[in-house]
Amino acid sequence: MNMSDAIADRRSVRDYKSQAISNRVLRKVLDSARLAPSAHNYQPWKLVVVSEEITRRSLSEACRIRWATDSGSKMMIQKWVAKPFGNAPILLVGCCLEKEAIITYHTGKEAVVCAKWNGFHHVAGSKRVNYHTTASCDLAIALDHITLAAIEEGLGTCWIGAFDEVEVKRVLSIPGEVRVVFLMSVGYPAAWPDARPRKPSEELISYEQYS
Ligand SMILES: Cc1cc2nc3c(=O)[nH]c(=O)nc-3n(C[C@H](O)[C@H](O)[C@H](O)COP(=O)(O)O)c2cc1C
Repeated sequence: MNMSDAIADRRSVRDYKSQAISNRVLRKVLDSARLAPSAHNYQPWKLVVVSEEITRRSLSEACRIRWATDSGSKMMIQKWVAKPFGNAPILLVGCCLEKEAIITYHTGKEAVVCAKWNGFHHVAGSKRVNYHTTASCDLAIALDHITLAAIEEGLGTCWIGAFDEVEVKRVLSIPGEVRVVFLMSVGYPAAWPDARPRKPSEELISYEQYS
């Protein structure tokens, strides 16, 4: 399969066969994440591969979250994850290590890029400084590689951004400073969903100047 086909064919799959994924296939798909680019090549992320059903069930519970609306909030139960994770045999938990990522902050006069958290901390001290790190972007690139490598193996995936991070960290004993940013289900699709619509290019892309 060529790359254009993989990009065009990828779907969010929310219903899976119970068929197990062999270690060979799983390792190959996971290696596509390892090969992903990251700022300064720091790779400031870790994936936890969860296959035990009892743990997947606990993580499904962490996806029952409250959804904020204009009129208040309502409980959002992701029905497909409740079974659990649409029976996907594998659930990936994407973790970021912000302190191992590139940090950019603004001193008020100039933007400073900092390769080490300690360097940033040295300058910022106890001052509140606006900063951002590349950690979640680096993780997202790695996970996107997985979504495409999975297609080549006949596997489907679904990103999950709606979950209770505190609960996921408790279930997997993830240390305090580590952020859980995305979950992702992986498995053989029970059916291949139809393509979702996309905005036209003119709405997304402009040339030379922003418009
Ligand atoms: C960052 C991110 C977070 C997402 N979170 C969820 C989620 O919590 N639950 C879910 O069912 N789908 C989630 N999705 C899947 C999107 O709904 C889906 O990608 C979008 O509707 C387009 O459909 P497609 O992936 O089939 O093209 C997420 C996707 C992304 C990229």
